[in-house]
Amino acid sequence: MSLTRLNINSFRNILSAQMQLADGLNLIYGENGSGKTSVLEAIFFLGMGRSFRSHLSQRVINNEQDNLTLFAMLERGTRQTKLGLRRSRSGDIDVKINGENIKRLSTLAEALPIQVITPESFSLLFEGPKSRRQFIDWGAFHCDPNFHLAWANTRRILKQRNQLLKSETPYANIQFWDTELVRYAEVVTEIRNRYVDSLNALLKGIIEEFLPQVDLKVSFTRGWDSKTEYLQHLENQYPRDLASGFTGSGPHKADLRLRVGSLPAQDALSRGQLKLLVCALRIAQGKLLKQQLNKNSIYLVDDLPSELDAKHRQLLLKQLTETGAQIFVTAIDPAAIVDSLSSPPDRMFHVEHGKIAVIE
Ligand SMILES: Nc1ncnc2c1ncn2[C@@H]1O[C@H](COP(=O)(O)OP(=O)(O)OP(=O)(O)O)[C@@H](O)[C@H]1O
Ligand SMILES: [Mg+2]
Repeated sequence: MSLTRLNINSFRNILSAQMQLADGLNLIYGENGSGKTSVLEAIFFLGMGRSFRSHLSQRVINNEQDNLTLFAMLERGTRQTKLGLRRSRSGDIDVKINGENIKRLSTLAEALPIQVITPESFSLLFEGPKSRRQFIDWGAFHCDPNFHLAWANTRRILKQRNQLLKSETPYANIQFWDTELVRYAEVVTEIRNRYVDSLNALLKGIIEEFLPQVDLKVSFTRGWDSKTEYLQHLENQYPRDLASGFTGSGPHKADLRLRVGSLPAQDALSRGQLKLLVCALRIAQGKLLKQQLNKNSIYLVDDLPSELDAKHRQLLLKQLTETGAQIFVTAIDPAAIVDSLSSPPDRMFHVEHGKIAVIE
């Protein structure tokens, strides 16, 4: 599965670009501020309806324009899918798949499993549990069709429960919601747990290549103590939850623990090693999706050469290309990538002031 064409209009400093993409490795290079990250961001925006850089979607619309439009052709075997997205400054968003309007953005995400690796995303993974949960949920969402709805319902009921707690509702009137909550929370937790287990099996081999001698342990914590049933736990915690007006534990507190020996990974590894660890995690996710559903991911790797020595650039590019996925890599200096490859990139694009030229 890969994108064969990409049209970008009025996205950041890119006013109009038409790109014919390669199936394998696409290298995008150019000076600082030329628009490299914006190309990756446009692909991500098309798949997710949002940016990976800013929470404010209107920021990505070119300053002089009122709408941005993105179009891509997705090829899977002999099947072609047209993806289109238009977003206006007022916040309206139109998404079309093969010309038909799509109401739920998750339909787009399903069609386009995107993995992003940026200099920011790797520090994010070590800043708080939310991004680690999102990491697990990327896989849970793509690998199990029941996840999306169960997680949406869990969040909906949690919101309701929190409102009841804030209005000091007696436990007898909350219990009904708790039984509902537990029903969905169990599905979510089971899928996440299973996903982390399968991921661990794949991760081992990649870590051995990237970070030999690093004794990495990855484990899943479900968000409440491991001995008590969730329903019982909710009842036990009711006085505390009532005092804070918030459900203090549950699947919304699940986490992925990354430890090296007895230390948290971020305390035990260097920055370059942390970047390799994040890459290993993402590559394992892509490989697992391929194994389980024969679905390829699309990798967006921003500023790949940064913080990595020549040997590790080479290793990372080798592992990425071995996934068989379509890859978009940006770099300031193309030689930093080209010199680390055994054969030339499948396509190279030069970006200058928002204009994109293919290098023949
Ligand atoms: N909404 C917008 N409208 C117009 N231009 C914008 C908008 N948002 C950002 N820009 C500009 O777009 C340019 C491209 O930014 P981008 O982050 O893609 O560059 P880059 O090539 O990745 O640079 P670097 O090598 O420094 O990472 C920047 O000069 C930025 O100021
Ligand atoms: Mg950039």
